[in-house]
Amino acid sequence: MSDLNERTGVQMEDAADPFALFDRWMADAKLSELNDPNAMSLATATPDGIPSVRIVLLKRVDDRGFSFYTNGESRKGGELRANPRAALCFHWKSRQRQVRVEGAITELPPEDVNQYFTRRPRMSQIGAWASQQSRPLASREELIERTHQYEAEFPEAIPRPPYWTGFVLKPSRIEFWQEGAYRLHDRFIFARAGDSWSKQRLFP
Ligand SMILES: Cc1cc2nc3c(=O)[nH]c(=O)nc-3n(C[C@H](O)[C@H](O)[C@H](O)COP(=O)(O)O)c2cc1C
Repeated sequence: MSDLNERTGVQMEDAADPFALFDRWMADAKLSELNDPNAMSLATATPDGIPSVRIVLLKRVDDRGFSFYTNGESRKGGELRANPRAALCFHWKSRQRQVRVEGAITELPPEDVNQYFTRRPRMSQIGAWASQQSRPLASREELIERTHQYEAEFPEAIPRPPYWTGFVLKPSRIEFWQEGAYRLHDRFIFARAGDSWSKQRLFP
């Protein structure tokens, strides 16, 4: 029989800094996830509160928060600009863990976006030009045609499309969840309190 007091939450109990705990869980996920350990659900909402959610890849975590890149003219881009608040959710099946993050959104400075764009593989850069993300597309042929067109237009270095951008979510709340036996999961929520964090255990 499983021990009801199994110490699955010990890492959370000991943690004072949610960023350090997040880094540790991400490192664990990188060792065991089948693919894309940095995939996260990104929830946005229109100014009148209609939500939408999709997966994006986390590209950096630093003092500013959680950064990701996308087409600024996409549905998510429009929602983030009109209502700059968002939520993220990571689910690492191999670790039976979830992390939820909520906070304010700002757009990354162009220097950061350029630096990241320059490091992307050539065909990903071409794809950024070819795709009018979230807008209607008549056929797959049209997408392929646009791809060839931009390959020809940019035989060498590829500039960043003006609409291709990055956003950073500055967390106000970060919640860590670790599955436990009999649904007696461990949950800890960190809430920003000025320059530090408060921490609270929650019922599962
Ligand atoms: C594993 C995975 C990773 C993805 N990463 C990104 C990403 O980093 N940026 C992005 O714009 N879309 C990414 N997508 C595609 C988005 O989920 C979504 O289809 C697209 O951004 C359009 O969303 P929108 O119409 O709500 O703006 C990813 C999808 C998956 C399944």
